[in-house]
Amino acid sequence: MGTTCVIVGFFRMHRSINITVISFNRMLVYEFVNNGNLEQWLHGAMRQHGVFTWDNRMKVVIGTAKALAYLHEAIEPKVVHRDIKSSNILIDDEFNGKVSDFGLAKMLGSDKSHITTRVMGTFGYVAPEYANTGMLNEKSDVYSFGVLLLETVTGRDPVDYSRSSNEVNLVEWLKMMIANRRAEEVVDPILEVRPTIRALKRALLIALRCVDPDSEKRPKMGQVARMLESEEVPFREDRRNRRSRTGSMDIESITEGSTSAEFAIKVERTGSSRSDRSQT
Ligand SMILES: Nc1ncnc2c1ncn2[C@@H]1O[C@H](COP(=O)(O)OP(=O)(O)O)[C@@H](O)[C@H]1O
Ligand SMILES: [Mg+2]
Repeated sequence: MGTTCVIVGFFRMHRSINITVISFNRMLVYEFVNNGNLEQWLHGAMRQHGVFTWDNRMKVVIGTAKALAYLHEAIEPKVVHRDIKSSNILIDDEFNGKVSDFGLAKMLGSDKSHITTRVMGTFGYVAPEYANTGMLNEKSDVYSFGVLLLETVTGRDPVDYSRSSNEVNLVEWLKMMIANRRAEEVVDPILEVRPTIRALKRALLIALRCVDPDSEKRPKMGQVARMLESEEVPFREDRRNRRSRTGSMDIESITEGSTSAEFAIKVERTGSSRSDRSQT
């Protein structure tokens, strides 16, 4: 349990502010956010408080993406959060997502990376290059955000040992499902109103780009926020003309011989409205 809990407990009396002590002479002051966190809404106690709809899920992740874009792209030195995970995304009454817990955050000059011997973060969310070599830059947050997005779409934990061996790791399972053309089955089964195929495709493609094993190929968070807000499916430039309004989802890996997680979507014109069976 972190320092924040103690301080939040103390300030709960005032119900207005929350202070994190990050050293003896520096403090971060946060607004008090009282509608639980993303982890509790996906897997925990907040599930009793109502349905966590697709729209609200997307609102939370878009808020998170914008907050990270600010930390990475709008300020100098930039800030790498280093512990993006669902329990650190607080949610307010209107389902705005707020990034919290800057206990591991690191300031970096522009275009700088940092090599650390002590890798910090949370199992399941840590980017492979950071876990393996200690190489840290803002692209590690992008990876963690991709895991968080997959978690939000599927309602699954990033690592879940209660599942069968090929389902333990969320990112690996997702890639396997997509390779087997079963992407439509990955949506959180708890959702009564499922997203449209188009919305699901958009979220999955963005998440897969974020968890690309090659950190250079991951998008920037500003780009991620724009793609999430767009009505378009983020096709690769050269595939745009093949886009169709209706059709079944068929996401194919085009990574043969490559380690990148680039994906292309082939939309088969079916003429049916199967993809529009639900709202959003
Ligand atoms: N601004 C805040 N408003 C309300 N609750 C908060 C706030 N910041 C943190 N909390 C609560 O405290 C918990 C732990 O805080 P956090 O900063 O993540 O510390 P740590 O993860 O180190 O314990 C959060 O999951 C959340 O429930
Ligand atoms: Mg925390």
